[in-house]
Amino acid sequence: MKLLIIVFAFAFLSSAVSIERLIPAGASVVEAPSPSLNKRWAKDKWGNGLESQRRAVTIRASKNDTDDVADDFLWAMRRANKGGLFHLEKGKTYVIGKKLDLSWLNDIYVKLDGEIKFTNNITYWQSDYFYYPFQKSITFWVWGGKNIKLYGSGTLNGNGQAWYDAFAGKQILDPGNTFLRPILFLTDNATNVEVEGIKFLNSPCWNTFLVRTKDITFDHCRFDAVSTNVSSRPANTDGFDSLNVDGLTVTNTEVNVGDDCFSPKPNTTNILVKNLWCNGTHGVSMGSIGQYPGVLDFISNAWLENITLLNGQNGARLKAWAGENVGYGYITNITYKDVHVENTDHPIVLDQCYFNINETACAQYPSNVNISDVRFINVHGTSSGLEGRVVADLTCSPGATCEGIHLEDIDITSPAGGPPVIVCNNISGDIGVECVSDEE
Ligand SMILES: *[C@@H]1O[C@H](CO)[C@@H](O)[C@H](O)[C@H]1NC(C)=O
Ligand SMILES: *[C@@H]1O[C@H](CO)[C@@H](O)[C@H](O)[C@H]1NC(C)=O
Ligand SMILES: *[C@@H]1O[C@H](CO)[C@@H](O)[C@H](O)[C@H]1NC(C)=O
Ligand SMILES: *[C@@H]1O[C@H](CO)[C@@H](O)[C@H](O)[C@H]1NC(C)=O
Ligand SMILES: *[C@@H]1O[C@H](CO)[C@@H](O)[C@H](O)[C@H]1NC(C)=O
Ligand SMILES: *[C@@H]1O[C@H](CO)[C@@H](O)[C@H](O)[C@H]1NC(C)=O
Ligand SMILES: *[C@@H]1O[C@H](CO)[C@@H](O)[C@H](O)[C@H]1NC(C)=O
Ligand SMILES: *[C@@H]1O[C@H](CO)[C@@H](O)[C@H](O)[C@H]1NC(C)=O
Ligand SMILES: *[C@@H]1O[C@H](CO)[C@@H](O)[C@H](O)[C@H]1NC(C)=O
Ligand SMILES: *[C@@H]1O[C@H](CO)[C@@H](O)[C@H](O)[C@H]1NC(C)=O
Ligand SMILES: *[C@@H]1O[C@H](CO)[C@@H](O)[C@H](O)[C@H]1NC(C)=O
Repeated sequence: MKLLIIVFAFAFLSSAVSIERLIPAGASVVEAPSPSLNKRWAKDKWGNGLESQRRAVTIRASKNDTDDVADDFLWAMRRANKGGLFHLEKGKTYVIGKKLDLSWLNDIYVKLDGEIKFTNNITYWQSDYFYYPFQKSITFWVWGGKNIKLYGSGTLNGNGQAWYDAFAGKQILDPGNTFLRPILFLTDNATNVEVEGIKFLNSPCWNTFLVRTKDITFDHCRFDAVSTNVSSRPANTDGFDSLNVDGLTVTNTEVNVGDDCFSPKPNTTNILVKNLWCNGTHGVSMGSIGQYPGVLDFISNAWLENITLLNGQNGARLKAWAGENVGYGYITNITYKDVHVENTDHPIVLDQCYFNINETACAQYPSNVNISDVRFINVHGTSSGLEGRVVADLTCSPGATCEGIHLEDIDITSPAGGPPVIVCNNISGDIGVECVSDEE
């Protein structure tokens, strides 16, 4: 018995000492209050403790833009994992200059009230990154695991200006492009992720890429990608991209970037978007999908409601590849409802002959992506006039499945004047509104 007590005491002391020793300078850990015996504590939606019930971890802030606290950050994520909270305090900046593997998370709250800023050392980030073959994507860090909450009033700063300047004149889809740029927030193999209140600033490339993820929500977030240099605009700074995701919800969010506002990619299902505001973007697009030969891609069950699109290329859009050597799949059950456009080049687009496949070629090599049950309901506002009187362009691939396309309450005017025109090519059945083919 005595021996046992000694062994326990020794184990306790040595673990206390080793944890103590491991705490980096300037960091702190405040243990969670113990639950009172006669009171049942409320739980979050995943059945875990609320903020006030969690052990709280902090680290020192950075002193300047090169003062890398990545090691401390990783320590804090480990220390806060399994029921704790990592607080990044308001008014403080935490500089990350090393890639971070956060694929092992389980019940963690990350409360970001300050700023996480990535270094802009292009040489480093182009030699040390996490790689995803889909469009040759790289990222600063990977978030994975389950029951992950990232919330607060703070900022994820991609420090993109140096990247915009260095990338100027290059093209992401150029097969020869080797100038890879990191994605600001990436989840992989994650279940139950909630992002709330966070500002995403100047991502070098896509703002978010959600991969193999189940049930992820973004609420009250704001995305900005803005260059201070007129000769190097932000490029490919999409708001939302996804791959193999089931359950993607975006609500009450603002996106002011130079590329896609919201564009789920292959295998995204059960999408809910509500109260989304997009400025200067390439629109809210389903796809493109069906690009790669032999690969099955799909997007299904999307509800997009109360979307505002200002000063952009596209409004509500669907795109599926056609032509030689492309893939196959389907887009089905998509509803756009209550969409407001202003100064938008192409307010409504359905393109089943993507990318730039002319009618002859699209008939010869039809799309193998079946499109069905697509609704555009109550789309109103103004186009930019770039396409003259044309405010909607719906082009199906001759000989492909393209059915159940329905438009209702479309009230878009063009500054070009005259009655607005809806173009429809090779669409079978009644689409609910009057339309003309390109030939007419
Ligand atoms: C940034 O802060 C670190 C840590 O205090 C210091 O070592 C370094 O010299 C500082 N660098 C600059 C450019 O001020
Ligand atoms: C940038 O990263 C490279 C490669 O890791 C390193 O050699 C160089 O010192 C870094 N530059 C700065 C300014 O930190
Ligand atoms: C996905 O995460 C789970 C734990 O959440 C892990 O057991 C599994 O190995 C991971 N799968 C892959 C492919 O990384
Ligand atoms: C602006 O971008 C251009 C093109 O990349 C670059 O040549 C120039 O140096 C940049 N200007 C500044 C002030 O960084
Ligand atoms: C629609 O979204 C805007 C934000 O873009 C919001 O201000 C407005 O309240 C929303 N309308 C409804 C009916 O929810
Ligand atoms: C919207 O985008 C335009 C450029 O397209 C920009 O001038 C304006 O500041 C943006 N508005 C907001 C509120 O972000
Ligand atoms: C989409 O899912 C199908 C079926 O699970 C799979 O075969 C295909 O590889 C996935 N597509 C991509 C791009 O991952
Ligand atoms: C279509 O999608 C909606 C969600 O947007 C879903 O509620 C409905 O069940 C789906 N319909 C079918 C037939 O799957
Ligand atoms: C597309 O539709 C055709 C005709 O109905 C069907 O034969 C094919 O299996 C469908 N493809 C997919 C991927 O669902
Ligand atoms: C359509 O595209 C094909 C393949 O690129 C090309 O050979 C053909 O000349 C084009 N036809 C027209 C009418 O532009
Ligand atoms: C597709 O649309 C074009 C232009 O309206 C028309 O000439 C052609 O006959 C249509 N093809 C099929 C297969 O419906």
